[in-house]
Amino acid sequence: MPKFYKSPFNYIGNKYRIMGKILPYFPNKINMFVDLFCGGCDVTINTKAKIYYANDINNFVIDIYKAFQNNSKEVIPYIENTIEKYQLSKTNEESYKLFRDYYNKTRNPLDLYVLMCYSFNYQFRFNSSYEYNNPFGRNRSSFNSSMKKNLEIFLEKIKGVQFSSMEFGMYDLGCMTEKDFIYCDPPYSLTCGSYNDGKRGFNGWGLHDDSRLFLLLDGLSYRNVKFAFSNVIEHKGIVHKTMKAWADRNNYKINYIDFDYNNCNYHIKNRNNITKEVLITNY
Ligand SMILES: C[S@@+](CC[C@H](N)C(=O)[O-])C[C@H]1O[C@@H](n2cnc3c(N)ncnc32)[C@H](O)[C@@H]1O
Repeated sequence: MPKFYKSPFNYIGNKYRIMGKILPYFPNKINMFVDLFCGGCDVTINTKAKIYYANDINNFVIDIYKAFQNNSKEVIPYIENTIEKYQLSKTNEESYKLFRDYYNKTRNPLDLYVLMCYSFNYQFRFNSSYEYNNPFGRNRSSFNSSMKKNLEIFLEKIKGVQFSSMEFGMYDLGCMTEKDFIYCDPPYSLTCGSYNDGKRGFNGWGLHDDSRLFLLLDGLSYRNVKFAFSNVIEHKGIVHKTMKAWADRNNYKINYIDFDYNNCNYHIKNRNNITKEVLITNY
């Protein structure tokens, strides 16, 4: 079994568990790689390319990556000192809340990473004033030894990546050529991943956004830029007809990825539990 690098973020909707299923579909040689909805960067750090660009509308996460790049050597000592200073642990909820208040006043991205490590489900949740408000991850979340190891590798892997936090429609893809490859893993309109409280549009993804992305991918395809697009084409009996029609109309390949978010096989009789994940490619 090939080993894949794991992001130290446990990001919702991350592709770590299906890395082995999607990477074989990626082109063998990639000049420029663009991860347009990079999230926890699991795909970026597992893809071989000459030049890397990673974007996500979630500027809080992107600011953490940039802080990692700017302070590479000091990141782990900083995290460990902060954990000690604030006595953060799997059981100390009071310290977690004090540290959360501190972060909301000072806004250091590295502190946000530490906070996230002790939070419920490792999520980035903010209220309408953009204050981090994710509850404590009692008995579950912590900056443990495997996260530390993943972070050490991550710091190396992201060294040359150009990060940005833009709405995908504003991202300039004008310089991409036929040697380049873009991976798109947007929120899935058929399922309901929660990226934050629904504010700032992180979670406000719908069919209209799918259509905007289809147009963008058609334009790239016209210029012979290769793309791979992750999504769910069927969920609990509902088929994403627009997506299927778009792929069929353009002769894009719909590659079925044998993975089910409900942990059940989709050959079972009860179609209400079926989730069909696909990787649509134009090559
Ligand atoms: C399914 S997740 C990506 C997960 C990622 N591939 C990974 O392995 O961790 C979708 C991402 O799209 C981002 N997103 C949502 N709307 C967006 C938009 N309009 N433009 C750019 N990014 C957006 C979310 O913040 C989220 O991180």
